[in-house]
Amino acid sequence: MSSKEELMKRLEERIQTCKKCLLGNLRTNAVPGSGSYDAKVMFVGEAPGYWEDQKGLPFVGKAGKVLDELLSMIGLRREDVYITNIVKCRPPNNRDPREEEIRACSPYLDMQIDIIRPRVIVPLGRYSMSYILRKFGFEPEPISRVHGKVYEASTLFGRVYIMPVYHPAVALYKPQLREELKRDFLKLKELLSRA
Ligand code: URA
Repeated sequence: MSSKEELMKRLEERIQTCKKCLLGNLRTNAVPGSGSYDAKVMFVGEAPGYWEDQKGLPFVGKAGKVLDELLSMIGLRREDVYITNIVKCRPPNNRDPREEEIRACSPYLDMQIDIIRPRVIVPLGRYSMSYILRKFGFEPEPISRVHGKVYEASTLFGRVYIMPVYHPAVALYKPQLREELKRDFLKLKELLSRA
C-alpha cells in the first residue's frame, strides 16, 4: 500500500467512528468519500442524504444520478475523480448542516485535500463553496454569482483551481439551473485540460 493510500484508509476509519458532533449518534454510516486518491479533481458536496447514510457512499441518491450524468458528459468516471462532502454524517431529515457541525467535521476535508492534493476543487452548492473559498482566502459570494468562476490559489503543494457550481440537487427542481450546471461542467472540462 502506498503511503497516500495508507493515510487515506486511516482517515476513513477515523471518520467512520467519529463522535465529534451529535450527528455521529444519529447516522447509520458515516460517508468519508469515494474515488481515486490520485484524482486531479475533487468534488465537495454538502452532507450525506438518506441513501448515502444507508450505503456509506457519497452521491448515490437522486442528486448522485445528476452528478453521474454531468461527469459522463465530460468523459469522467467516478473512479477518475474523488467525491466527498464537508459534513460526513447525515443531518436529520436532510436539514442543512449547522455551523458547529461544519466546524467539527471540516478538518477531515482539510486532511483529504492535503493528502490527495487535487489540482482542481469543485464545491457543489453554497455550503461547500463558502467553506472552500474562505479556506483558500477568498470572500464567499452568493452561488448565483460565483458558479462557473475559476479561482486560483497557491498552496504548499502548488497551485489549485477552485470552480464552484450549483449543487446537483437543484437540477431536480429547477430545469434552468440544470442547463447552468451543464455549461459549468463544460468549463470544468476545459479547465482540467490545462490544470
Ligand atoms: N447531497 C450531498 O451534498 N452529498 C451527498 O453525498 C448526497 C447528496
